[in-house]
Amino acid sequence: MSTFESFVAANRDRMLEEIKALLRIPSISTDPAHDADCRHAAEWVGNHLTQLGCPTVEYLASETHPVVWAEGPAAPGKPTVLIYGHYDVQPPAPLDEWTSPPFEPTVRDGNLYARGATDDKGQTFSIIKAFEALLAQGPPPVNVRFLIEGEEESGSKVLFDLLAREPDRVQADAVLVADTPYYAPGWPAVETGLRGLCYAELKVRTARQDLHSGLYGGAAPNAHETLVRMLAALKGPDGRIKIPGLYELVDRPSKKVRDAWAKLPFSERKFTREEIGAKALTGLQRYSVFERLWALPTFEIHGIKGGFTGEGAKTVIPAEATAKISLRLVPNQTEKKVQQLVRKAVKAVTPAYADVTLTFVHGANPVVVDVESRPIELLSQAFKEVEGRGVVPVRSGGSIPIVPELGKAGAPVVLSGIGLPDDRLHAPDEKLNVEQIMKGVRVFGRFFQLMGGV
Ligand code: BES
Ligand code: MN
Ligand code: MN
Repeated sequence: MSTFESFVAANRDRMLEEIKALLRIPSISTDPAHDADCRHAAEWVGNHLTQLGCPTVEYLASETHPVVWAEGPAAPGKPTVLIYGHYDVQPPAPLDEWTSPPFEPTVRDGNLYARGATDDKGQTFSIIKAFEALLAQGPPPVNVRFLIEGEEESGSKVLFDLLAREPDRVQADAVLVADTPYYAPGWPAVETGLRGLCYAELKVRTARQDLHSGLYGGAAPNAHETLVRMLAALKGPDGRIKIPGLYELVDRPSKKVRDAWAKLPFSERKFTREEIGAKALTGLQRYSVFERLWALPTFEIHGIKGGFTGEGAKTVIPAEATAKISLRLVPNQTEKKVQQLVRKAVKAVTPAYADVTLTFVHGANPVVVDVESRPIELLSQAFKEVEGRGVVPVRSGGSIPIVPELGKAGAPVVLSGIGLPDDRLHAPDEKLNVEQIMKGVRVFGRFFQLMGGV
């Protein structure tokens, strides 16, 4: 048995109890009502890192959700690995669709269910435990630093500001991020790129106040109707986004890359029926599913508020309606540039009778990662030893806003993780497979050793 395997065997129950404690804290960063919970989660992480042997633990930028900064015992002359992760989570709604409550972590069928189980508390925890296992073996062969933030799910503004002030924080020989899943069970992945994001709120006002639909209907403008017409004008039923200039900015992946994606094992039927639970896929049919998910921009409506949605019926013409919308961005697009295009397009579909306000909420730039790096070779070796298979390079459609900044001091960035594709992040019944956590401890522990030349 390897040393990490025996560590896992001896500490598995304790580790499970520990991660459950972190998962009980509802650290929802987008909701100000949970500010204290975010602080509490930061302190949980900080205290934990102190207890397992980090001589330096600091809470940076703590006027907002604190960024936890920790340094392991110094290993003079040895490489430095920086770990990035986040302790904040997405809102858990809709609550009644959870089998067990989101902040009461529960194990069923070998899976740990809770908001944040995979995104990103559980994944970050597996690296923290790998470091604990490493320290249990004696002085570490690498310098390890932790940068665990609490605003990833709301745009990471505090961390952008921090790194602008202190760019040296990301000076390292490798930056490891465990916030993306395996390609498939048994298939660890490394991301070659992430999409960006441009999130906005679109508000339409059409009258001073709500109106009786009998007395005014037929002549008065309806805010809800206006909003849905505007939204419908921004994207066609074929999936094409009708924002002029948007597709011109897309840097399409090379034929070689697309051919490699076509060779990945993939069942469209299984993806549609089992992973998503839908009858059919939508979107630009002449592009492959992978290209649609990883390399093309999207336009989504997250929710529409306004008018009457309560019990019973109310004959009203709503005066105001709001939609939360976002676009995913792909390489060569930037959040700034796309904001300009969206602003123009919204103006063009705004009827003269309506007052429309467009507010950008947060976002991220897309990123391309060079996967021909030494740290990725070593991580792949660690996966090979533990999982029997090295990493497969894939892209991902999600976003991690700070990633472009993490490589700015020259360190190779490694985007990987131990989650599985059906972990349901951001959705009800989010989970992380318990065995995957334990594999993570072994893989990341071995990665630390390999980075240190052991
Ligand atoms: N960990 C996810 C991003 C992710 C998941 C990337 C799976 C690739 C594969 C991250 O926590 C996330 O959800 N990010 C947000 C960012 C946004 C709120 C600024 C996202 O992608 O919606
Ligand atoms: Mn995440
Ligand atoms: Mn997330």
